[in-house]
Amino acid sequence: MGTDLKSVLITKEEIDAKLAELAAKIDADYAGRELLIVGVLKGAVMVMADLARALSTPVTMDWMAVSSYGAGTKSSGVVRILKDLDTDIAGRDVLIVEDIIDSGLTLSWLLSNLSSRGPASLKVCTLLRKPEAAKVDLEVEYTGFDIPNEFVVGYGLDYAERYRNLPFVGTLAPHVYGG
Ligand code: PRP
Ligand code: MN
Ligand code: MG
Repeated sequence: MGTDLKSVLITKEEIDAKLAELAAKIDADYAGRELLIVGVLKGAVMVMADLARALSTPVTMDWMAVSSYGAGTKSSGVVRILKDLDTDIAGRDVLIVEDIIDSGLTLSWLLSNLSSRGPASLKVCTLLRKPEAAKVDLEVEYTGFDIPNEFVVGYGLDYAERYRNLPFVGTLAPHVYGG
């Protein structure tokens, strides 16, 4: 591990095992239906790729790219769509897939935006969640790991666009982000 990382928080093996567990639950819950999984770019790329391959349920995959509005702060919770879905989700069973729920503001906005399009169902799967950072209370059907309120990178998660390709989730050394 490079000196930029403080520690490995969740290993690749732990991620694989958790995604298999979540996929089994999802398969049971959506038995006999077709699921549209929606990945939130860019962080959810790894979770989408591995979760999709762990599922037996027939799925189609689509993507949204969103950005918080304003100068790099998410405090307003106002989100702008950079890339919308290609799919009309009316009447579809939709599962939003995220790498992490931090404040919850991105997801809160996405849930209200997507629910206004009339899906048959709309649920959320996230690999990571930071309960201590939550600013809104959200119903999340499938959660991988609750983690402490620390800066984490890897497995899709970035710091200044770097570290997304790490196969594990790690904590970043404070010197990297000026801490
Ligand atoms: C990160 C992460 C979630 C969101 C969670 O995305 O991937 O989408 O922040 O934060 P919140 O719960 O406080 O809203 P980011 O906006 O960094 O974009 P990225 O996925 O391209 O890294
Ligand atoms: Mn993201
Ligand atoms: Mg990011």
